[in-house]
Order: sequence, then structure tokens, then C-alpha cells
Amino acid sequence: MLFIIFIIIFLCTIIKIYLTLTIVRCKSQTCLVGKTALITGANTGIGYEIALDFAKRGARVILACRNEQKAREACRKIINETGNENVVVKLIDLSSFASVRAFVEDVKRSEERLNILVNNAAILEVGLNSLTNDGNLLVMQVNYFSPFLLTVLLTDLMRKSKPSRIINLTSVMARVAHGFNVDKINNVEGTLNDYGITKLCMILFTLELAKRLDKSGVTAYSADPGLVDTEIFKQTPRFINLLAQSFKRFFFKTPEEGAQTPIHCSVTKGIEECNGENFIDCQRVKRYAIVENQEMTKFWNITEMIVSLKPDEIC
Ligand SMILES: NC(=O)c1ccc[n+]([C@@H]2O[C@H](COP(=O)([O-])OP(=O)(O)OC[C@H]3O[C@@H](n4cnc5c(N)ncnc54)[C@H](OP(=O)(O)O)[C@@H]3O)[C@@H](O)[C@H]2O)c1
Repeated sequence: MLFIIFIIIFLCTIIKIYLTLTIVRCKSQTCLVGKTALITGANTGIGYEIALDFAKRGARVILACRNEQKAREACRKIINETGNENVVVKLIDLSSFASVRAFVEDVKRSEERLNILVNNAAILEVGLNSLTNDGNLLVMQVNYFSPFLLTVLLTDLMRKSKPSRIINLTSVMARVAHGFNVDKINNVEGTLNDYGITKLCMILFTLELAKRLDKSGVTAYSADPGLVDTEIFKQTPRFINLLAQSFKRFFFKTPEEGAQTPIHCSVTKGIEECNGENFIDCQRVKRYAIVENQEMTKFWNITEMIVSLKPDEIC
């Protein structure tokens, strides 16, 4: 028995060494002085590391978070570590369209430009089927509908600030999502598959957004961070959380490592020819089969209806 445990630990260690040695990092030295970047869910995990990186590059960084105390703490840590005092907190709750709208008004009032928008915040709620006050499944609203609304409402400012980029965090769970139906987009099952569907929606949204913003100076990319040791797994059922806790040391990236692909998509020069595409390990990946042949116009129009976009707000 001891021998078997030893073999398992030995193999896991070899895999960990291999994964550590093969981590792909963003190599770009792009300076962001004079640029403004906004990251949702920037108080922890991957979002925090993205914000820290942008602050090191000299950007004005907006931490768009729902919990003021956690956000202020993250802001203080980033300022202390980077010496960049141009880091601010703005509050947004993605489970409420009213909050997204109020946030956008605040950004438009206070900011002259917006060069990078990272839609990072998301939840991995499984099996609870909670509904928001707007009447949508919580996981759909936080992970897709609100990022859609936020992005569309900010495109004017981003066009004025061109060149600018929109980065949508996605996941390999999108690839294996099943039962996606444009007509029943807000009618998911209350299982782990819902999370995959929200991430598939982000990939489809990015593709269509890139098309609609073509030649505007604003480009959009999906970025998949890989399997990363963050607080997101705390929201999963006990057995998934236990599995994650047991294997994270061996198989998971650190948040700093997970942030590399979204950072790459945000700052690396010359990736505009990949506008709309999905990136893993700082490289564009082939479109997933499930992404092909979707009714994109219908998908977009239905989402516009759900988020109650007004005719003059359409991008
Ligand atoms: N971790 C992974 O293995 C993995 C894999 C693939 C993709 N991703 C994607 O990477 C992104 C970042 O995930 P993470 O792993 O860093 O997760 P995390 O550590 O749980 O961070 C999620 C962030 O989203 C915020 N958030 C949650 N609900 C919100 C709401 N209603 N309004 C505003 N902010 C809200 C959280 O705020 P609080 O701190 O206040 O809760 C937190 O700041 C997500 O899009 C996720 O889907 C992660």
C-alpha cells in the first residue's frame, strides 16, 4: 500500500515538474503608461493577477468588484507592490443589470478613455438554480448577460480610445458543453454544464462582437486560463471541491500563471489578425466544433432583448 502511495506521489510530482517547466508566459514588454484598463472581479484569483500586471506596466487600473472591502484591500496591495498609485476601485454587481448600468455611467463620467476591458468575473454555481432580480439564472447573468451589457455600453468609449481591446475569460468547459439552444438560452439545467454554456456564450459573443466592431479600432479575444487554483472551486459541490483541493498542488496553475493568456491577449502587439478568436497558453486555438454553425444574429438579438438594450445603445 505504502509503495502504491509512493508511486502515485512520485508520478504526480513528475507531472507537476513537467507542467511547471512548460508553463507558457506572456513575453510582451508592452508599456501601458497613458492607457486605462478595467478588470471585473479583480480583487482575487486570476483577475487580481491581471490587474497587478497592468499596474506594473504603468496603466491606470480600474478594479471593478462587488465587495468594497475586498476590492480596497486588493487595491492597497497592488499600489504597495507596484508603486503605481493610479489604481482605483469601482463597484459593480454583475447579478444586477441596474448595477451594471450605474457602473457604466460612473465610468463614463470619470474616465477619458478605456483601452482594455477584461471580462474576468464569473461564478461556478452548480445545482442552486438561483434567479436574479432581473429574472435570469444567476450563473447566466453573472457570467454572460451582464458582461455582454457592460461591454456593449462601453464600446463608445472604447472606440474613442482606439486601439483598444476586449478580453473575455472562457474555459475549456465550453468545448464539452451540451444542449446549447439559442432559443432557450436562459433556460439551462442547474448542473455544471450551465457553467460550460455560459463560457460557450462568451466565445460566441466574442466572435460576433469582433465582427460588429470590425475596422472600429476595437478588437476582441477569448482567453482560457487553464485549470487554476482559485476561490472559484469553493462554489462547487463538496466532491468537486475535495477533488480540486487534493490535486491542485500537482495539476493546477497558480493564479499568476493562469493570468498569462488574458494578459497576452490584452497587451501583445500584432494579434489583431486573430480578432474574435480563442486563446489558450498564449496561442490562438482552432474553433471548437460546437462554435461552428450557430445562429449568431439570433443569438445576439436574443441577448440584446434579455439585457433590455435600447435602440441607441446597440454597438
Ligand atoms: N480557476 C479556473 O480553473 C478557471 C478555469 C477556466 C476559466 N476560468 C475563468 O477565469 C475567470 C476568473 O476566475 P477565478 O478562477 O479567478 O475565480 P475567483 O477567484 O472565484 O474570482 C472570481 C471573481 O469574480 C467576482 N464575482 C463573482 N460574482 C460577481 C458578481 N455578481 N459581480 C461582480 N463580481 C463578481 C468575485 O468577487 P468576490 O471575491 O466578491 O466573490 C471574484 O472577484 C472566470 O471567468 C472563470 O470562469 C477559471
